[in-house]
Amino acid sequence: MLDVHPAWLPASAFRSVGSRRVRVVGDGPVVATVRAEVAAATAEHGGALVDDGPADLELVCAPEDGETDPEAFVVGRAGRTAVVRAIGGPGLLYGFHHLVRQGEAAFTGEAGPQRHAPRQPVRMLDHWDNVAVHPVMGQVERGYSGGSIFYADGVVRADLSRVRSYARLLGSIGVNRVGLNNVNVGPAEAGLLTDLLPDVVRLAEVFRPHGIRVHLSVSFAAPVTLGGLPTADPLDPAVRDWWARTTADVYAAIPDFGGYVIKADSEGQPGPFAYGRDHADGANVLARALAPFGGTVFWRAFVYDHHQDWRDRSTDRARAAHDHFAPLDGAFDPNVVVQVKAGPMDFQAREPLSPVVAAMPRTRLAVEFQVTQEYTGHQKHVCHLVPQWREMLGFRPWGEGEPTVADVAAGRAAAPAGGVVAVSNVGDDPFWTGHPLAQANLFGFGRLAWDERLAPEAVLDEWIGLTYPGDPAVCQALHEIMDGSWLTYERYTAPLGVGFMVRPGLHYGPAVDGYEYSRWGTYHFADRDGVGVDRTRATGTGFTGQYPAPWRDRYESTDTCPDELLLFFHHVPYGHVLHSGTTVIQHIYDTHFAGHDEVRRMAATWAGLEGRVPAEVFDRVTGLLVEQLRCATEWRDQVNTYFWRKSGVPDARGRTIH
Ligand code: GCU
Repeated sequence: MLDVHPAWLPASAFRSVGSRRVRVVGDGPVVATVRAEVAAATAEHGGALVDDGPADLELVCAPEDGETDPEAFVVGRAGRTAVVRAIGGPGLLYGFHHLVRQGEAAFTGEAGPQRHAPRQPVRMLDHWDNVAVHPVMGQVERGYSGGSIFYADGVVRADLSRVRSYARLLGSIGVNRVGLNNVNVGPAEAGLLTDLLPDVVRLAEVFRPHGIRVHLSVSFAAPVTLGGLPTADPLDPAVRDWWARTTADVYAAIPDFGGYVIKADSEGQPGPFAYGRDHADGANVLARALAPFGGTVFWRAFVYDHHQDWRDRSTDRARAAHDHFAPLDGAFDPNVVVQVKAGPMDFQAREPLSPVVAAMPRTRLAVEFQVTQEYTGHQKHVCHLVPQWREMLGFRPWGEGEPTVADVAAGRAAAPAGGVVAVSNVGDDPFWTGHPLAQANLFGFGRLAWDERLAPEAVLDEWIGLTYPGDPAVCQALHEIMDGSWLTYERYTAPLGVGFMVRPGLHYGPAVDGYEYSRWGTYHFADRDGVGVDRTRATGTGFTGQYPAPWRDRYESTDTCPDELLLFFHHVPYGHVLHSGTTVIQHIYDTHFAGHDEVRRMAATWAGLEGRVPAEVFDRVTGLLVEQLRCATEWRDQVNTYFWRKSGVPDARGRTIH
């Protein structure tokens, strides 16, 4: 069995700090983590952790005039000594890792004091881990990296050393909250709130020294299933008392518990609709139980009818979150965060921003991404998603000069901050993420959640430099393979924002009509004349009307709708000419051939790294690239054949369509 891979924290990453004399000043569990990091690094690289005498680096946690953010830090110089100051342990930890990422430059570059603070107060990873192994979903729902690092044999693992290493990785990139269990809460998982609580305490103890608070996903039916009450009606006093008592017990055990995550009235999960109540009633009963302790409820907006009929063209899954939640703006308690999937459908390779983000100015909103590659290649495909998240976080729902999505999540627009959340891609695989290169998505999520203005290619290079140091040829090859890989994946899969076309249930590999006649509301409506979903106000589902200006009008017209989202918003003939100048049908052929060619090039570039990266990494990635190319071939051929047959229009370039 392979040792666990160090990811972006190999011993070599600590050389610049570890070869110096370093003093750490301050108290508390997170400062102790910094001290332990320095001790390990200096032992490895010949420096020293010193209490007094001259030092090359001082890491100081102490009160500072004017500073109020315990996660902020200031880097500067005192004479020839580099200094990091913070008022809280987390700030010191983040400052330490900032220096680690900078390497030697931290000691030779600019000397002026520079303050760094996270742009988002909440930077959270949700784990879809089950305590018990689910018969269909396995242990980690939509997990592609093996079993859970938290649970084994129906309980929290006795040995939490993997969790300790994981918490260290997350702390180094500034993640400060973790949801410990799947949003689909089964009977075994429900017990985390009560019977298994002592085990949750153990997990909280592992995360705390890295500045991370833990959350639990809870079931709305818990007062019935765990409490034995006849109802879970949020307005019933006995239900309210049950949540209050249960929550008080959690805080007695875990004083810094973050709060709850909840998926209600969605895909079969229980919720307030059963009692004729709305989602504000539901969220507020949990919020009031958490409020005395400073806890937050993350209430998911992923609510839609999953029993649709494709013949009914007026029901539109994309509309659902806005239809349910926008009318409730202002009705949620201050410690409720409505957690909105970034796109209106479901984590596709390409979607527009969810219109909910611009529709609830009096509600704290969190934007949710998926680091786990459910619809983007199951961590068998190289698909570097950081550019996608960067694009969405930087999107301006109200147009130029107005706030971005990141501003909304950070509380810089109207309501106070909600946060940035993502579904984790980690499991008990020795590489953490199945595909060794998918570690970069985890790293990149943390970095963008800290500062969404970072350039994705710079974040990628940071990850490469830490993980595979010292060989410029390796760095260049990895950059080439990974940088454009999201767009490559988009090219060989579902075209122009139409989405899905994946194998039902599994969500891997092509099945163009896989969901076309199903109940899930995910249709492309291809027929002999054209393809795409008419979501206009003029002739379609009216979804475009859920956006504010200017996007409600830009999306409404094919003249102004961006090419990459055309089929999300419009049903067009195959001969429709895109802004790029090519027809829709020709675009489908061209991108599928191009995407496939790009995967072939990726594999060739990777092959050149034999002997330059560790053998186990080389072998794992080589095998996965074989699968990616096989799968991309299948995608190319199935999509091209399907649309050739439907449209009757041949490829203008006369290539063989298999
Ligand atoms: C997707 C995914 C489910 C998951 C759901 C969610 O639909 O396929 O497995 O439970 O998202 O976000 O709740």
